[in-house]
Amino acid sequence: MEKETVLKLVKAAMEAREKAYAPYSNYHVGAAVLTTDGTVFTGCNVENASYGATNCAERTAIFKMVSEGYTKISAIAIAGGTAEAPAFPCGVCRQVVSEFAESGDISVIVASDEENYKLFTLDEIFPFAFML
Ligand code: THU
Repeated sequence: MEKETVLKLVKAAMEAREKAYAPYSNYHVGAAVLTTDGTVFTGCNVENASYGATNCAERTAIFKMVSEGYTKISAIAIAGGTAEAPAFPCGVCRQVVSEFAESGDISVIVASDEENYKLFTLDEIFPFAFML
């Protein structure tokens, strides 16, 4: 992936993180998905007094993407946590990314800020995905 694209996604995820609704955990997360045709959708975590009704940032972004008619992801950036312990996507979100990933080679970018980010492939962080 081009560095310019990586930085664009990290920035979009950081901006989305500012919208996080996280009064219970106070853990703010943002995500930005890049579709195969170059469109970016962002999302934040949205918590609920009934904790299980919480939606992660990654799924907010992906559900926005799908509801706008796009179904192929070529990269996703997640912004959250600290440089030492960035916000890796949870297991449920990995499964949801996998549903819409163009391939196992797509980039999953984990960032705590614009200077501190790491790239992984989806296969690296989510091997042997469940598929029907
Ligand atoms: N969270 C995300 O938004 N994405 C993840 O992949 C992990 C967890 C959110 C959910 C909850 O609002 C907060 O982080 C603490 O778990």
